[in-house]
Amino acid sequence: MNKTDGNTKVLGIIGDPVEHTGSPSIHNHLADKLGDNVVYVPFPVKSKRLEEAVEGAYALGIEGLNVTVPHKVQVMQYVTELDDAALDIGAVNTLARIRGGYRGYNTDFSGFMRELDKVDIQVNGKNVIVLGAGGAAKAVVYSLKRLSAQHIYILNRSREKAESIFGGTENVTIYGFKDWKSIPKGKYICIQCTSVGLSPCDEDCVIEDEDFYDLIDSAVDLIYKPKETAFMKKVQAHGGRAFNGLRMLVYQAVSSYEFFMKKEVPEEVAEELYNELNS
Ligand code: ATR
Repeated sequence: MNKTDGNTKVLGIIGDPVEHTGSPSIHNHLADKLGDNVVYVPFPVKSKRLEEAVEGAYALGIEGLNVTVPHKVQVMQYVTELDDAALDIGAVNTLARIRGGYRGYNTDFSGFMRELDKVDIQVNGKNVIVLGAGGAAKAVVYSLKRLSAQHIYILNRSREKAESIFGGTENVTIYGFKDWKSIPKGKYICIQCTSVGLSPCDEDCVIEDEDFYDLIDSAVDLIYKPKETAFMKKVQAHGGRAFNGLRMLVYQAVSSYEFFMKKEVPEEVAEELYNELNS
């Protein structure tokens, strides 16, 4: 554990609630491994005080902040600069200190792209099914388009909500879950972006129909608790490869840390962190 002194830099996470967050343990772990004089702390912030919180953080010399639910969209108004990807996705999860304020980034998308690379899921020219249309799905769809997916089928409980977010996007088709049979026969990459199956509801799965899983040859469930979700089990039972979202979690944290500290985190350190969290 590093010792705090007069030179300690402060990082943190703002959200409401923040009690459940795993980010302090991941970032403090990274700081220890890299020998940085840093502490990372949770800050519960109500929406109506978000602007004051960001200004106050800057005044206090806070080096960087992660931003979680429900502030990822609202916080975009209070940044001094906005990264292009964060602007396109429409959400910020990282504030890195610059002169006069913070620059907003989205590292969910870069974390997800790094996970795909690491587990050797190649999206270029492939058809992809995305389950869900919330904040996480936005970063995923942005990544898939950047990686040149051929066509993306987005399935959501509320088709209208998905339409309001992704309607009109090129090479994207939107259905409700029950209409999954409208997807042309073939083999797909599938990304599970809903909260269904999250611990303690380990047995829940967003599409129960076993036939659906014949469509999937590789999949990522963004959930990492439990380590193996009911969705992943079904994919595997039908011969597909399935991964959880732990690597995405680690890599989004690593990317945030890199923006905060303005230095690169060696790949071995990221891998070591992943292995420790996965053990
Ligand atoms: P996140 O930022 O994690 O993506 P979110 O923006 O609240 O969280 O999105 C949650 C996603 O899980 C949405 O796609 C939501 O479906 P709706 O858009 O129809 O609300 C989906 N979801 C949550 N609970 C669900 C449930 N019980 N069944 C099906 N989908 C569910």
